[in-house]
Amino acid sequence: MTFKQEIERRRTFAVIAHPDAGKTTLTEKLLLFGGAIHVAGAVKSNKIRKSAMSDFMEIERQRGISVSTSVMTFEYRNRKINILDTPGHEDFAEDTYRTLTAVDSVIIVIDGAKGVELQTRRLMEVCRMRSTPVIVFVNKLDREAKDPFDLLDEIEKELKINVIPLSWPVGAGSSFKGVYDRFETKLQLFYSADKQRLAENVLEITDLESDEAQTALGESASKRLRDDLELIETVYPEFDRQQYGAGKLAPVFFGSAGNNFGVRELLNCFVEIAPCPQKSVTDVRKIDPFEPKLTGFVFKIHANLDPNHRDRIAFLKICSGVFERNKPYFHVALGKQMRFSAPNTFLADRKSIVDESFPGDIVGLHDTGNFKIGDTLTEGEIINFKGIPSFSPELFRYIENADPMKSKQLTKGIDQLMDEGVAQLFTLKINGRKIIGCVGMLQFDVIQYRLEHEYGAKCKYEPVLLHKACWFDSEDRTQMDDFMTRKYSNIAIDKYGRNVFLADSAYSLKMAEDKFDKIKFYYRIEN
Ligand code: G4P
Repeated sequence: MTFKQEIERRRTFAVIAHPDAGKTTLTEKLLLFGGAIHVAGAVKSNKIRKSAMSDFMEIERQRGISVSTSVMTFEYRNRKINILDTPGHEDFAEDTYRTLTAVDSVIIVIDGAKGVELQTRRLMEVCRMRSTPVIVFVNKLDREAKDPFDLLDEIEKELKINVIPLSWPVGAGSSFKGVYDRFETKLQLFYSADKQRLAENVLEITDLESDEAQTALGESASKRLRDDLELIETVYPEFDRQQYGAGKLAPVFFGSAGNNFGVRELLNCFVEIAPCPQKSVTDVRKIDPFEPKLTGFVFKIHANLDPNHRDRIAFLKICSGVFERNKPYFHVALGKQMRFSAPNTFLADRKSIVDESFPGDIVGLHDTGNFKIGDTLTEGEIINFKGIPSFSPELFRYIENADPMKSKQLTKGIDQLMDEGVAQLFTLKINGRKIIGCVGMLQFDVIQYRLEHEYGAKCKYEPVLLHKACWFDSEDRTQMDDFMTRKYSNIAIDKYGRNVFLADSAYSLKMAEDKFDKIKFYYRIEN
């Protein structure tokens, strides 16, 4: 296969959802239909469950699972599909946002009874920022669900994207009869199958006027379906691939991942329409995946679970060229050459050493502390990939050393955990005190636990009354100097040396924004 064909057949995407909508179940069913696994249950849920286990044990269990499911790869209809896993708990949403920088499209799962939820909206915002193409899967139609037309309106309004239903449900809950595939124009009848395996003998009907359709659906359901389809044709536009590719139009599918239902339609359409690797933006120029020289960036770092091996895995998204084992590559931030003798690829629950990988692929590189999230590898060119977001955290605590004999270990531990992107660290200019900023409370626990278990260091937290952290800059030197002087005790620097304003309250932030009108405050910043 040529280099061009290798790139064109790759589909790298993520399944995202509000917790409990069915992300894990759908991912697993995609692997099942793709032939990567044969029995459901191979992909364990990486949700943090409140159970008999302590939260920490649960977090470790989840980390263990998420190493092996970070990238799930399979072949389907001559496409090479890479599914990038995202954390199941919203406290780790930042991880998900970063993973979204490494995909070319996403499938958003929505619970048919709940509709669009908070995390769905937030994730969609990140997709919108990057114009990522989106397919929506409305799940759990085997249970009572909202009316499909209402759901479409809700998705359109709440997710701020045009929609087009490419499949259509007949009933829901106890009256759920099946799904009409508008893409392949056939009706698939629902029967509760052996959920763990594939149902091979699903009845497909291509002619909705046929006696077969009437018998299978009953007169009223079949009339309703025909009416619905007619209405859809008048209300919704034709599917426009370009609009989808530009992230402006979302095809919507209906089904029940738990019952393997509607998943094949989704997958068949996905491999047809989802984009292959696209251009990526750097601080110097756009990188075309078809360029022969290697470029790539690290979007995720995973620490080894074995405390005796302090190495980590850095996940590199290949943006152009071919990644070859043992070939020297240039680490732009460190300004040095590195070679990798055992780069990993991932296949469902296995990982293996790979000799070459192509744009769209993810390789796992063993790392002894050389990588930070966002780092770029090239064949010598000095560029940095852009777009890995940091979000303004809203939970803050001072972090202090609780064991004076271990201060070196603590510094190293904090440094490495921040490189992994576990949370954000701010150092106050006025006194050098360190503040950890998080999105969710669980992150504080994770840091404390991992510092102790992986670095032998002890930390304690102290409360700090802060409302929000935001980055700022201005062309107006006078106003900038004035702001820096007046707010000096609230100014810190982040891990990259950027200035951050730590506002005590919503009021003080508003006052600062009003008074210093030539200063721009950012709640999200890209590397
Ligand atoms: P998540 O990763 O998005 O958080 O969701 P996950 O797939 O874990 O699914 C959340 C719950 O919804 C699970 O139930 C799962 O079995 C169920 N589910 C997924 N798809 C369907 C579906 O099509 N229909 C119905 N009725 N339920 C579905 P659970 O009780 O939390 O876990 P489990 O005991 O079933 O594993």
